[in-house]
Amino acid sequence: MTDKIRVLLTEEEVNARISEIASMINEDYAGRQVHLICILKGGVFFTCELAKRLTIPVSLDFMSVSSYGSGTKSSGVVKIIKDLDEPLEGKEVIIVEDIIDSGRTLAYLMEILKQRNPRSIELCTLLDKPERRVKKQVQVKYTCFTIPDEFVVGYGLDYDQKYRNLPYIGVVEQ
Ligand code: IMP
Ligand code: MG
Repeated sequence: MTDKIRVLLTEEEVNARISEIASMINEDYAGRQVHLICILKGGVFFTCELAKRLTIPVSLDFMSVSSYGSGTKSSGVVKIIKDLDEPLEGKEVIIVEDIIDSGRTLAYLMEILKQRNPRSIELCTLLDKPERRVKKQVQVKYTCFTIPDEFVVGYGLDYDQKYRNLPYIGVVEQ
């Protein structure tokens, strides 16, 4: 079965905005090295596009978490499926996520990663749905796009593991 997908943000719009965010990071972290943590799987396309546009020294690591729950809602209970390979001690960390929805995943992750003593830790997200936020304490330093409360796919985001490879952001029409 094929779903009908309405384009919300074109590939050109997404890439142009990623370039802007990369410029901000290049400026903010001038003279320093950043350690990007890509949250798998959704963050992978955004992380690559962002990293390619950074001119400061960059190192990369990957983490995979699952929030227990089915369908399109997260439960708030987060399990680490794959932990980082490298320690965070003294590093300037930027967590790179696909989307912040309730904020539960990030609230939990920030808490455990801060305990590993990075020099600094910030959040960078492709999309933010602030209307859905439950964890108000989650502070996002870099947001590419704020979007309404709609379920989106593409550019790493999936619906039942499908559509991650779409080069744009779309809404699955019911
Ligand atoms: P949170 O813990 O509620 O903030 O959930 C964040 C995670 O839920 C994201 O990393 C996505 O994997 C998933 N998610 C939330 N909203 C969407 C969406 O609109 N499309 C696809 N995945 C989503
Ligand atoms: Mg995700």
